[in-house]
Amino acid sequence: MMTGIGLQRRLWLCFLGVSFLPVIYIIFLSLELTMPWRMVDLNLAQFPGIGYTREPNRFHDSEDPLVDKTLSDGSDGQHTRTTPPTPLSLKVQSTSPARVRSSTEPGARTTKGPDLKGALLTKSPKPTEPPFIGDSYYSEDAPPRTDCPDGIRSRVPQTDFGVRYLDRIPVLQWAKHATPEQYQRLRLYPGTHGWANLDYNTLVSTLSVLNTSANWHMFDDWERRSNGSQCVRCAVVGNGGILKESKKGRDIDRHDYVFRTNGAVIKGFEQDVGSRTSLYTFSTNTLRNSMKNYAGAGYRGPPFSEETRYVFLPDHDRDYLLMKAAATHTPVERGPERSKTPPSYFGGNVTVEKFKMYHPDFIRYIRNRFLRAHAMQTKYKDIYRPSTGAVMLLAAVHTCDQVSAYGFMTPDYMNYSDHYYDSQYHPVGFFINHDLRMEMTLWQQLHHAGLITLYMRQ
Ligand SMILES: *[C@@H]1O[C@H](CO)[C@@H](O)[C@H](O)[C@H]1NC(C)=O
Ligand SMILES: *[C@@H]1O[C@H](CO)[C@@H](O)[C@H](O)[C@H]1NC(C)=O
Ligand SMILES: *[C@@H]1O[C@H](CO)[C@@H](O)[C@H](O)[C@H]1NC(C)=O
Ligand SMILES: *[C@@H]1O[C@H](CO)[C@@H](O)[C@H](O)[C@H]1NC(C)=O
Repeated sequence: MMTGIGLQRRLWLCFLGVSFLPVIYIIFLSLELTMPWRMVDLNLAQFPGIGYTREPNRFHDSEDPLVDKTLSDGSDGQHTRTTPPTPLSLKVQSTSPARVRSSTEPGARTTKGPDLKGALLTKSPKPTEPPFIGDSYYSEDAPPRTDCPDGIRSRVPQTDFGVRYLDRIPVLQWAKHATPEQYQRLRLYPGTHGWANLDYNTLVSTLSVLNTSANWHMFDDWERRSNGSQCVRCAVVGNGGILKESKKGRDIDRHDYVFRTNGAVIKGFEQDVGSRTSLYTFSTNTLRNSMKNYAGAGYRGPPFSEETRYVFLPDHDRDYLLMKAAATHTPVERGPERSKTPPSYFGGNVTVEKFKMYHPDFIRYIRNRFLRAHAMQTKYKDIYRPSTGAVMLLAAVHTCDQVSAYGFMTPDYMNYSDHYYDSQYHPVGFFINHDLRMEMTLWQQLHHAGLITLYMRQ
């Protein structure tokens, strides 16, 4: 009798357990499916041929400080995973101006400034993304352009990049963008991807200084120097060791504009890297670190010349504060660069016309659509951003008619030292705040699509 009841009870419990298992499984499955992160992998499929690194590495780049050494895990990512090109199933906002229309997303509706005309660049509806992605952007009514017949913008629609390239993305920000509506929209995004770390007064007081046409044109002196040419030809020079003994200096200097970044040492290396600098890209942090780390190689700060323009990659409010102080010849109010005298990084005579600043929408756009790294699915998502060199090269791809890239990472990077000015071999370092392998893959893809000419030494 007793054993009979016990057996019955055990059978009953067993039955209950078995019948609940699928229920528990279904609950887990649906939880997982509603996690936004599950979607990001799927979204990657919209961008054909994006390769990305699986290995979260350390947090550092040669120009940024080691913010947290404990993030180092020593795995320098031997295993690079590349997602194969995937056929496109969803159309996203493409280059065609006809596709520029106001977003149907609720958040985007709030931006109705008179200068906005309801035009936000956005993608077609698709699975929910985590809010920090923010894949809709300000749209310039009349982006500056040349009448080059076969420039990058006219070639891009015929390539795999057509679906993600936005022809009207604002590359630079200036006075016009400092409105309460734009602040409401961009304060959602931290770091370089928005204005979350910036108070409204600092934003307005800085951007209102950038109120000349030179501040919103990448090539503000083009009319004066075009000399009958229709196409803007740019040399974009990274600091990679591949340039050492390349003898590319003369080729580089022959372009209309020469872009450089961070610790760009020129003196003594002219034969290999040229001598001109038309547009110098940096953030306050990378500039200060370059001055500290590459002083031995002869780097003393940003280059000076009549043609040189300074393009800030704003990462913190310190960039806005330094820009304003430098352009108005006043001391830096607060923060790490706080000073009693005006900043001298750009020479004593620098004028406001020489400064430009990348738009946070542009940085977020290239992160989302060109360099959507694995780190964005990890706890490092807030410190990950495209490297300074990547921002510079993609800015050229969005403004120049022809781009030759020199000194950027190539698949045989291990054959070269980190920088062309290293006195002895120093391997390229990989850190979690950038994804240099993914950037390297992108340069190969842009080269093979015929959109840039990448110097590869062979
Ligand atoms: C920028 O200049 C224009 C024209 O001179 C002026 O109307 C506008 O108020 C200025 N904007 C700012 C923010 O100073
Ligand atoms: C301008 O173009 C003319 C004719 O093509 C050429 O001879 C001259 O050297 C050019 N000037 C400059 C400054 O490039
Ligand atoms: C500033 O400009 C003046 C006059 O044009 C010039 O004499 C002086 O050398 C310049 N100073 C610097 C540091 O470039
Ligand atoms: C790079 O190094 C490998 C071996 O380490 C060698 O086989 C290859 O030829 C080198 N490539 C160049 C471009 O020097």
